[in-house]
Amino acid sequence: MSKVVFITGATSGFGRATARRFAEAGWSLVLSGRREERLIELQKELAAKVPVHIAVLDVRDAAAVQKMVDDLPEGFRHVRSLINNAGLALAPEPAQKVALEDWHTMIDTNITGLVNVTHAVLPKLLETGKGASIVNIGSVAGEWPYPGGHVYGASKAFVKQFSYNLRCDLIATGVRVTDIAPGMAETEFTLVRTKGNQAASDAMYGTTTPLSAEDIAEQIFYVANLPDHININRLEIMPSRQAWSAFAVDRDK
Ligand SMILES: NC(=O)c1ccc[n+]([C@@H]2O[C@H](COP(=O)([O-])OP(=O)(O)OC[C@H]3O[C@@H](n4cnc5c(N)ncnc54)[C@H](OP(=O)(O)O)[C@@H]3O)[C@@H](O)[C@H]2O)c1
Repeated sequence: MSKVVFITGATSGFGRATARRFAEAGWSLVLSGRREERLIELQKELAAKVPVHIAVLDVRDAAAVQKMVDDLPEGFRHVRSLINNAGLALAPEPAQKVALEDWHTMIDTNITGLVNVTHAVLPKLLETGKGASIVNIGSVAGEWPYPGGHVYGASKAFVKQFSYNLRCDLIATGVRVTDIAPGMAETEFTLVRTKGNQAASDAMYGTTTPLSAEDIAEQIFYVANLPDHININRLEIMPSRQAWSAFAVDRDK
């Protein structure tokens, strides 16, 4: 029986690249996201290689998440790896200029959504036991503050601490937990953050060498395929051309 990976946010970026990477290695795929046409496209692409189950899912809807997991077809129920990838940043402006709704959307998706999926899939991972894994996609923003990071960074700090705390409780179950924290990577991330500003996205990535979705997919695959006795707690990855900057100081004019 092939191993099953359950990926949220498989319609774009890291999630889609991760689906392709696991398919290459023969894993069965459970792929979810809100954009159905993208899921169908990906299923068409990968179904010749491996079994693929797709489900339109908004991770913010706890009841829908539970139903989707309960309704997994035979052959997809023995989940070995959960990739909690669905997430987004909104509002790159300073905190004092951001609409409250955007903060709520980030909290509902990056925190509540991730918790919804974890809670629903965990019993299946526990059944798998040894060798199972949860890979949560955090961010460098969960560790390092930057202007305009406000709720996004705080939501990813939640992902980091939730991952660590899960480890404490799951220690004797065989289920491993990792927080993967990417730096700048070219996906639809900036397009979403700027609400569709392609020029801003091009400007963000065009004059440097960002990580690619495939770079992160490779790390996710690596973590989930380590020998059973190894748990990577947190993996922080930046492009070589990204680093920290000096502290800001407000000076007299
Ligand atoms: N790119 C970066 O620089 C970067 C760096 C660090 C961390 N990250 C994190 O990496 C993860 C993936 O982002 P990405 O860079 O690959 O961006 P992306 O290309 O915009 O992909 C985001 C994915 O999340 C899904 N998603 C968003 N809201 C959702 C919801 N409510 N329910 C279900 N799915 C939802 C989207 O699918 P639908 O729209 O079809 O629902 C999409 O598949 C996110 O958690 C992000 O915070 C990204």
